[in-house]
Amino acid sequence: MAHSEIQPDCVPRHVAIIMDGNGRWAVSRGLERNAGHREGIESVREIIRACRDHGIEILTLYAFSIENWNRPRGEVSELMRLLEEYLETEIDEVMEHGARVRVIGRVDRLPPSTRRAVERAIARTSENTGMQLVFALSYGGRTEIVDAVRRLCRDAEQGKIDPEGLDEKGFEAYLYAPDLPDPDLLIRTGAEQRVSNFLLWQLAYSELHLSERMWPEFRRPEFEAAILDYQRRERRFGLTSEQIREDEDASEGAGTDGISSRRGQS
Ligand code: IPE
Ligand code: IPE
Ligand code: MG
Repeated sequence: MAHSEIQPDCVPRHVAIIMDGNGRWAVSRGLERNAGHREGIESVREIIRACRDHGIEILTLYAFSIENWNRPRGEVSELMRLLEEYLETEIDEVMEHGARVRVIGRVDRLPPSTRRAVERAIARTSENTGMQLVFALSYGGRTEIVDAVRRLCRDAEQGKIDPEGLDEKGFEAYLYAPDLPDPDLLIRTGAEQRVSNFLLWQLAYSELHLSERMWPEFRRPEFEAAILDYQRRERRFGLTSEQIREDEDASEGAGTDGISSRRGQS
């Protein structure tokens, strides 16, 4: 897919990816599943570069779900080892991109050495102001919501918030990374059509791109095809096409963001 077809002025601001299919990719080649995880790292590298080249501000990668803790012990420990290795060997390139590493999920469950690698990557890149690279590790969407509710209840008990006045914005403040905008585009590789407990709250209005490719074979051309697919969508947020077009006309005239101003209304 030609690079030049992507319109630079309307790339998604935040892309989230469910990187699925490593195991099947490997097994179909007569390899062990972990070989697929290793090959998947090359895709991660390439997709981060593509995001940087296209000016995508935020990339969130689902690397390990809370349910993945139930996989065979050998696979879990290899995934943790690869994660540590990735964070150590790739950090120089991440620095060159000016990217800031962040993590969402129950990192308290990670083995100490993995947690230290995560903390080092976060600390080393904390001053970077280029793209944000968010790893969902030991992440579950339901857990995130329950964790938010627990902290919210605590604040209510202490009189810091008034539950009667709670709205969506107020609730979002308790999520793992409340400052991040919702993903504009969710990509899932690996030929499955489900969200597998990923960003349940934040995906409310994300555009979905489901790829038949296994993650190790999802590279720049496939990613650029997903961006082009996104650019052909009309995001209506519950409105009609006519309203969206009116908003676009108005914003062209006035230089304001008509759609987001409408989204604020209810
Ligand atoms: C995704 O690939 C990576 C993780 C979940 C960590 P899988 O390991 O789920 O690969 P498949 O889906 O079994 O092929
Ligand atoms: C989702 O993949 C989690 C990650 C990609 C990290 P899974 O392979 O765990 O999802 P299911 O089990 O097919 O739903
Ligand atoms: Mg899978």
